[in-house]
Amino acid sequence: MTSDRTHLIGLLLGAEEDWPTAFETLAARMGVLTLGDGTSHEVRTERMTIEPFNLRDRARHDLVVDRLAYWYYHPREWLKKASLMDDVYLLNSPFTFQSMEKHSAYCALIRLGMKVPETVLVPYKNPVDNSRWAYTSAKYNRSFDLESIADSMGYPLFMKPFDGGGWRGVSRVKDTDELNRAYDQSGEMLMHLQESIDDYDVFARALTIGPETMVMKFQPDEPMHDRYAVSHGFLSETAGQEARTISQVVNAFFRWEFNSCEMLVKDEEIYPIDYANACPDVAVTSLHYYFPWAMKALLRWSTFCVVTDRTARTQVDSAPWFEIADDDALDYGAKLGAYQELADAHFETDRYWEFCETALPHLDEMVLDWVASDDFRTLLTSTIRATYPPHEWDRFEGHFGGLIDLWIKDETNSLG
Ligand SMILES: Nc1ncnc2c1ncn2[C@@H]1O[C@H](COP(=O)(O)OP(=O)(O)OP(=O)(O)O)[C@@H](O)[C@H]1O
Ligand SMILES: [Mg+2]
Repeated sequence: MTSDRTHLIGLLLGAEEDWPTAFETLAARMGVLTLGDGTSHEVRTERMTIEPFNLRDRARHDLVVDRLAYWYYHPREWLKKASLMDDVYLLNSPFTFQSMEKHSAYCALIRLGMKVPETVLVPYKNPVDNSRWAYTSAKYNRSFDLESIADSMGYPLFMKPFDGGGWRGVSRVKDTDELNRAYDQSGEMLMHLQESIDDYDVFARALTIGPETMVMKFQPDEPMHDRYAVSHGFLSETAGQEARTISQVVNAFFRWEFNSCEMLVKDEEIYPIDYANACPDVAVTSLHYYFPWAMKALLRWSTFCVVTDRTARTQVDSAPWFEIADDDALDYGAKLGAYQELADAHFETDRYWEFCETALPHLDEMVLDWVASDDFRTLLTSTIRATYPPHEWDRFEGHFGGLIDLWIKDETNSLG
């Protein structure tokens, strides 16, 4: 069967093979989709390559899932060109992820009334090497007493880069010695000093793709393969909804589409600590049980975007959010409700789920069939072999195989 329209999804990749293979396989298995209006659509995928490009070249892609451009400038500039000139839809757009990083996300969420721990931005330990800086620094840099700032915030504290990611440069400091050592070592990184939320009840890490959010129980001190615990109902109904709202609000606010949000939960209060991840971890060896959901959500959302010709919005429009934030008549709960409505409107949540029901009714069964197939096991085995040394292959085959079997069982039950 041929389709009326074919939509091309580009994958701009780093070193990952596991989820791209899963995504490509599922997109191919999805087949031709027929909409209520009688039109038929097909989704194709293609891995992007890096090569010279003329700024007037037209992009062939309708959407690009970007996992690279945060670090590499050539593909980043291609994405910006494709977005500006051909309206290519980006997950995520460098227009917001370059300028709006962890620090901006803290600021926005503070204004929205969320419980971001007390945070101070400290000037560079070693300013960038620039001949003009010496003059500016001598004339305008005010000396400051880091120790007394820390004393007034109270130990322990976290010192971490304002735009951080991947634990780079993060330290937890217990006293002035550790504080000074961490600051000395920060060198040319710009650092936040942040109040530590200690003795929290649970660390929740939420992965959000379009309007879909999975809130997972995270164990940061465990090795990578054990960080996401399979746990249902580990948050109360209210805390779970608040975690979803915070995750979706930060994404809708910044126009992020594919992001993970870290929150510490203590006595039913939610403290967001990190929620600007341009490239959230979706490896099968990290997400295991949750991997099929992540692939489904990525496929559903990107299909919805291309098939319905969703318009990409690349500029932040803070006004409607701050109107709610600045309304003193609303309490925290009322504000969360109002933000959620804005997030739902941004992501067209109702229309999205209706699309999933009408155009993708076969998706759940199709994903279940594939995850239960030998094809998926081969992918899991090759990922394990590429990730771990040979003496650990058997152990991880059992570990991840068991978690996937558990998902298959739960999913079979839930699909009835
Ligand atoms: N304010 C805080 N209170 C308690 N723990 C914190 C706080 N800030 C950071 N942490 C701990 O330090 C870890 C790393 O901090 P953060 O997430 O901000 O940095 P990162 O570089 O983004 O790291 P990652 O890539 O692992 O998320 C967190 O996962 C958490 O365990
Ligand atoms: Mg983090």
